[in-house]
Amino acid sequence: MIKVLFVCLGNICRSPMAQFVFKQMVEERGLSDQFEIDSAATEGYNEMCHAGIHYGTREMLKSMHVPFEEHYSRRIRPSDYAYYDYILAMDDSNVEDIQSIVGVDTDNKIHRLLNFANKPRNIKDPWYTGNFDETYWDIVEGCDAFLKHLKL
Ligand code: 4NP
Repeated sequence: MIKVLFVCLGNICRSPMAQFVFKQMVEERGLSDQFEIDSAATEGYNEMCHAGIHYGTREMLKSMHVPFEEHYSRRIRPSDYAYYDYILAMDDSNVEDIQSIVGVDTDNKIHRLLNFANKPRNIKDPWYTGNFDETYWDIVEGCDAFLKHLKL
């Protein structure tokens, strides 16, 4: 079982989008049994208000026919580091924040998602840009590149 945790700042826009895009990709390839997939935040404010998936992410997933379930924001915990095989961040600041919570990445589990792509870069935060479309296509590119990296 390969355990994957997608992480962003708030866990309501990018990381749940990546969670469900990646879930659909592995399902389409008949690989569901090999994966456990979840997402988390580096900040705790959305967890405190029990926030669900942002409207913009929901609408984007619906328009691209990506199935999703309810997901409530939760902050990444130090114990997640031992549990997950891959902790996939959306941008550089997520990587720094994850490390400050879980400690030194001794097992090389923490990666920026688009580091697997041909053009490594951050995935911009649609909470600020309002551009969920751009986020979606960056996430598709990153998830696809990550799957290729796994060579399954
Ligand atoms: P996300 O976007 O990290 O892609 O989920 C954000 C969502 C909420 C906030 C910031 C970023 N916020 O400040 O509540």
